[in-house]
Amino acid sequence: MGLPRYFFVDSSVVHDAPHGRLKADGTTGAHGLDLARLLDAVNDAYAELETTSARLRDAIAHIGAGFAIWAPDERLTLCNDTYRHMLPSLADLMVPGTSYGRLMSAAVDRDVVILGRGGRAGWIEAGIARHRQPTGVAYAVRLRDGRIFEIRKERARDGGVVDLFTDVTRARQVESDLRHAKDQAEVANRSKSEFLANVSHELRTPLNAIIGFAEMMAGQMLGPIGLPKYQEYASDIRDSGGHLLALINDILDMARIESGRLTLHEEPVSIAVAIESCVRLVTERARRGGVTVEVAIERPTPRLHADERMVKQIVLNLLSNAVKFTLRGGKVTVEAAHCADGRVAIVTSDTGIGMTHDEIAKALTPFHRSESAFSRRFEGTGLGLPITKSLAEAHGAHLEITSRPGIGTRCAVIFPATRTLAAA
Ligand SMILES: Nc1ncnc2c1ncn2[C@@H]1O[C@H](COP(=O)(O)OP(=O)(O)OP(=O)(O)O)[C@@H](O)[C@H]1O
Ligand SMILES: [Mg+2]
Repeated sequence: MGLPRYFFVDSSVVHDAPHGRLKADGTTGAHGLDLARLLDAVNDAYAELETTSARLRDAIAHIGAGFAIWAPDERLTLCNDTYRHMLPSLADLMVPGTSYGRLMSAAVDRDVVILGRGGRAGWIEAGIARHRQPTGVAYAVRLRDGRIFEIRKERARDGGVVDLFTDVTRARQVESDLRHAKDQAEVANRSKSEFLANVSHELRTPLNAIIGFAEMMAGQMLGPIGLPKYQEYASDIRDSGGHLLALINDILDMARIESGRLTLHEEPVSIAVAIESCVRLVTERARRGGVTVEVAIERPTPRLHADERMVKQIVLNLLSNAVKFTLRGGKVTVEAAHCADGRVAIVTSDTGIGMTHDEIAKALTPFHRSESAFSRRFEGTGLGLPITKSLAEAHGAHLEITSRPGIGTRCAVIFPATRTLAAA
């Protein structure tokens, strides 16, 4: 700092003081001024200053970034070693007194940087302009050797400029690798979804023929079948075909959802009609499983501006789960009602096997089915709930699941007020 380290006061020495003679005990007889204590305080202040400035030098040295301070006349006041090491071919200029313009010219002349469209003059001019108007916002500079520096310039208190240089080459590389990997994954995922969509479509046409003809045979539409066993087989073909078709439809839906190609065909949908048609589809299964199904729809019936097929699919998925995962003697309820704030809720509840908190989260991921031995006994692909959630979300609705193992499950799909139409 160019300042003496400490002032020492030797109290045994008698000094000449301007306002009186200093006594050996350090006080002046004339004014009672305690010079020794004053000098002690000054010493302490210098010691503190020294410690602070050492700390500051340490901080600047170990800041982990290139650091430089430029005076208001654009000359270098100080910089740390990192700054010098980052640009070794300019290190000889990184000494106090070098002008910013000189450093800029040398960076170009020594082929350190990559010039833009403005060429040599343009690059230097832009650099100096940035130095004169420091914004505090980082900008990137590309070096000839492939490195990328982020430079931030801040206005210093004295009108000079503080520079902070960070080597972001690695970070930028990681960022670009990640972006590349993400793009590739998205392309792969899109082709997978497109493949699934096409295959599913191709499978449905022949399958519909199989189901249709099996139906005709099971119903003996063109005349009686000789052996009753054959009629039973025809019914099995129809049922298995129907099951396969439902599965293919689910996969097709999932593929559409994942490829972002889900389009809503919106129209006024009566919730009562949608629920009743779904209840009809699960009645037989419920009867076989000894499960009661109860319907409670508010009157007048809420209506939605929605895609009817999707609303039905939402209800059917929830309802078939409720029936599937409820033991004999249990009860399934489906309700629909307006909420106080104009939203409309469709709620299914059951007294079935229930799920833990973790199982609910898993059930919402495609192809994930609960590990519990009980649910393993039921057929299914694990697509119903994820599809339901996505179809609900496509309508701006959300799916809420609450469940307790052994007690039952409640699934609510809540449509926003903007989807609600005047009740019929
Ligand atoms: N109401 C419910 N009660 C208990 N468990 C349920 C209920 N609904 C869903 N689950 C659990 O969540 C899992 C996922 O449900 P999801 O409807 O997605 O698939 P799935 O019914 O097994 O097959 P899919 O619906 O594709 O035929 C189920 O396998 C089951 O473990
Ligand atoms: Mg299901």
